[in-house]
Amino acid sequence: MSNKNEQPVLELKNVSVGYESVRGTVRAVRDVSLKIYRNEIVGLIGESGSGKSTLSNAIMNLLKNSATLLGGEIIVMGQDVYSLNKRDLRKFRWNKMSMVFQSAMNALNPVLTVEEQIADVFREHRPNMTKKEIHDKAVELMELVSIDPKHLKSYPHELSGGMRQRIVIAIAISLEPDLVIMDEPTTALDVVVQKSILDKIKELQRKKGFAVLFISHDFSLVAELAEKVAIMYAGRLVEVTKAEDLNLSKRHHPYTEGLLRAIPELTAETVKIEGIPGNPPDLINLPTGCAYNPRCKYAMESCKTIHPVEQDLDGRQIACHLYNEDFVTKAVR
Ligand SMILES: Nc1ncnc2c1ncn2[C@@H]1O[C@H](COP(=O)(O)OP(=O)(O)O)[C@@H](O)[C@H]1O
Ligand SMILES: [Mg+2]
Repeated sequence: MSNKNEQPVLELKNVSVGYESVRGTVRAVRDVSLKIYRNEIVGLIGESGSGKSTLSNAIMNLLKNSATLLGGEIIVMGQDVYSLNKRDLRKFRWNKMSMVFQSAMNALNPVLTVEEQIADVFREHRPNMTKKEIHDKAVELMELVSIDPKHLKSYPHELSGGMRQRIVIAIAISLEPDLVIMDEPTTALDVVVQKSILDKIKELQRKKGFAVLFISHDFSLVAELAEKVAIMYAGRLVEVTKAEDLNLSKRHHPYTEGLLRAIPELTAETVKIEGIPGNPPDLINLPTGCAYNPRCKYAMESCKTIHPVEQDLDGRQIACHLYNEDFVTKAVR
């Protein structure tokens, strides 16, 4: 685990993001706080529509027209991402932070060779590099993601989905950023290819030491890759925990518990596999109190009226009234 005295690579302070729509404001990300340090892989899990992509776009300061940062601060390597001018932000984006987008496999330009696309990044951000230096760097990057450098001459359609995804990852780390955000980078790939890409990400991360925010709706995938996991529900982080604590012998937010019970691989044979009944809430008309309360089998009266704040429970940050007594006892001790 990292030394908490060091500067975080990414610090989110009470980040909220909303989309303006004809029905009202869609509160896609609500009051999210999180720190990620160097050498850390942090997983972000949540059902589809829980706000994961919105949060990653917000970190990159790439929110689309109808979306705005409603509140909070996003700090990368000590720099407030929202206080940079356009030009500095462009530089900052590749040099300090980069992102592999959801469906990134199709992010490559179909009419350029792999080498031309890698070279573009260096030409723009490292104008002093010679052609030879750029070529050498392109070869090195291909080797780094275990693709034969002969494919530098290939066009994207000549490569498999897994190879394209590796190349997108290679481009994202080409300028050695401190933070790499990966938004469901393997979702479209088959399980074997997914596994090999995860191994590759781990290996690269160890070599280069960058911090990773790895986003997925696949609980078992995240639990395998990340050492710290944040669980998002209806735009909020309901729990932040060590991956090794993600099992039913530990106390968790009821939503995390529901997710754990829904994974066959992580549960003991004696535990019955069950899905979480009900549906995620309407982000325009959120339930009062805890947004999870209508689906929660432990819901109490207070859950319907009082919003639970995140508190520490045995090293996990959990926002749930269920543990209020523990929180209080600890505070008194
Ligand atoms: N352009 C948009 N306008 C209005 N609402 C949007 C827009 N894009 C996303 N949303 C809403 O924001 C919520 C979060 O979306 P998203 O961040 O894509 O979730 P995830 O990546 O977890 O699947 C969703 O409920 C979605 O309906
Ligand atoms: Mg998404």
